[in-house]
Amino acid sequence: MQTSSTPLIVSKIACIGAGYVGGPTMTVIANKCHDIQVVIYDMNQHRIDEWNSDHLPIYEPGLEELVFERRGKNLHFTTDYAQVVDADIIFLSVNTPTKYYGVGKGRAADLKYIESCARQLRDTIKSGRKIIVEKSTVPIRTSIAVKRILESGDSQAQFDILSNPEFLAEGTAISDLNAPDRVLIGGESDYAIQALSSVYARWVPKENIITTNLWSSELSKLVANCMLAQRISSMNAISALCEKTGADVQQVSYAVGKDTRIGAKFLQASVGFGGSCFQKDILNLVYLAEHYNLPEVAKYFYGIIEINDYQRDRFAKKVIHKLFNTVSNKKICILGFAFKKNTSDTRESSTIYICKSLLEERAQICIYDPKVTENQMRYDLKSLMNDSYGGDFSAISETSPESELVSKNVKVFSDPYEAMADAHAILVLTEWDEFKTYDYQRVFDSMKKPANLFDGRNILDREQLEQIGFEVYQIGKQEKNLADW
Ligand code: NAD
Ligand code: UGA
Repeated sequence: MQTSSTPLIVSKIACIGAGYVGGPTMTVIANKCHDIQVVIYDMNQHRIDEWNSDHLPIYEPGLEELVFERRGKNLHFTTDYAQVVDADIIFLSVNTPTKYYGVGKGRAADLKYIESCARQLRDTIKSGRKIIVEKSTVPIRTSIAVKRILESGDSQAQFDILSNPEFLAEGTAISDLNAPDRVLIGGESDYAIQALSSVYARWVPKENIITTNLWSSELSKLVANCMLAQRISSMNAISALCEKTGADVQQVSYAVGKDTRIGAKFLQASVGFGGSCFQKDILNLVYLAEHYNLPEVAKYFYGIIEINDYQRDRFAKKVIHKLFNTVSNKKICILGFAFKKNTSDTRESSTIYICKSLLEERAQICIYDPKVTENQMRYDLKSLMNDSYGGDFSAISETSPESELVSKNVKVFSDPYEAMADAHAILVLTEWDEFKTYDYQRVFDSMKKPANLFDGRNILDREQLEQIGFEVYQIGKQEKNLADW
């Protein structure tokens, strides 16, 4: 066994959790470090089968090529837990969703998956020295719980715990991982920090590998997501003011973002942010603040979510209002179900919330998305309509009125022109590039009149659309027909 003064030469890395983070992160490590065996373990057999097939479970630009390049060489996807225990470094990259039951329901992170990983490691690793890395996003001080569990059995093994949160964004995961703004490693053991740093140092400049204590690292991840989301909510709040006053939110964000202290990124007003993490991590921070009796802090961050909900609701109401206050039985085409472009992920997508509002008004919804499957769309809509979103889907009845509404009033199309034909309105809810390239004259000709287009991402050429004859609404921009109907 190496002593703590002998630097560890890493030869094998394992990761528990083959999801949106575990899969791409380990794939990039395997590509950068051919001499390191990388094993990704998941308890979900179906997911592992997909990782081992020609159709990977997630869509991410550039991922497929890298997986196909290294799979079977130094990159392995498995449900065989035995392949985890002899790794030098073990990443925990399991999900940490918002709790949907019990104490902290709707706020706190559910740490049951992290805890079960820790217990399994404790019960299966009996000797040697292992570096356990929290890759999942967790509440501050989770590493204490992980350490206590690891040290609670009869294992003679020595465990070093590190926090190494992931900052990749979906849709750009591979480029983010190839050139991260920073890699953050929190921990107390120099031996472990050195070992993990040595892996990243193969391709990340040393000055971009930051080390902190455990708590700063855990908390920084939550704060980063809160601040990114806060910028979007700020612009979304301003978009409502723009619509009332004649300012143009894109001009405002450009002017504001030119200030180098502010910067241009994450200032795009939209139908509201989605994704599996922003809301979850803000709620997590809110819960922590409440737990530590800091209600002002909790309230401050909770406002980010309130504005996001407001923006989704505002958009749905705008659609209903513009369609003469009734969408009942009207065909409404939804372009985009993913929470952002270049991903098949739909978690917390604003589309789901906007569809719910329209379905409650008995609209006929026709959806097109280039990457999201029909099953996923129906699953999401039924979950939310039955108030079980993020909860226990098995508890949902297929025959509940809400499920039947989804079955009867939602159609999914693989051809966007078919989805748009005969529609009273088109709603652009994800910023997929292909939406900009459609033949909108052809679309207009096929639609009911007046033909309404609600651009929830401000990606389309409004002037051109208005020349064709569309009535166009864009976020944070004044409508041409101020008199309204
Ligand atoms: P995910 O749901 O896509 O994947 C998690 C995987 O862990 C699942 O496949 C699940 O089967 C597996 N799993 C859970 N418990 C397990 C166990 N005990 N043993 C084996 N496998 C187990 O989640 P994700 O999107 O990859 O997110 C993982 C973590 O990373 C979360 O904490 C999230 O907040 C964080 N994160 C996510 C992103 C992102 O873009 N999705 C970015 C940065 C950080
Ligand atoms: C976000 C962060 O950007 C990552 O750094 C972080 O690692 C990740 O969360 C996480 O912890 O899961 P992600 O959610 O994948 O990444 O995607 P983003 O690009 O951040 O977009 C989130 C949402 O905000 C999307 O719905 C997007 O359309 C929306 N958005 C983004 C806007 O509405 N306006 C913007 O200006 C930017």
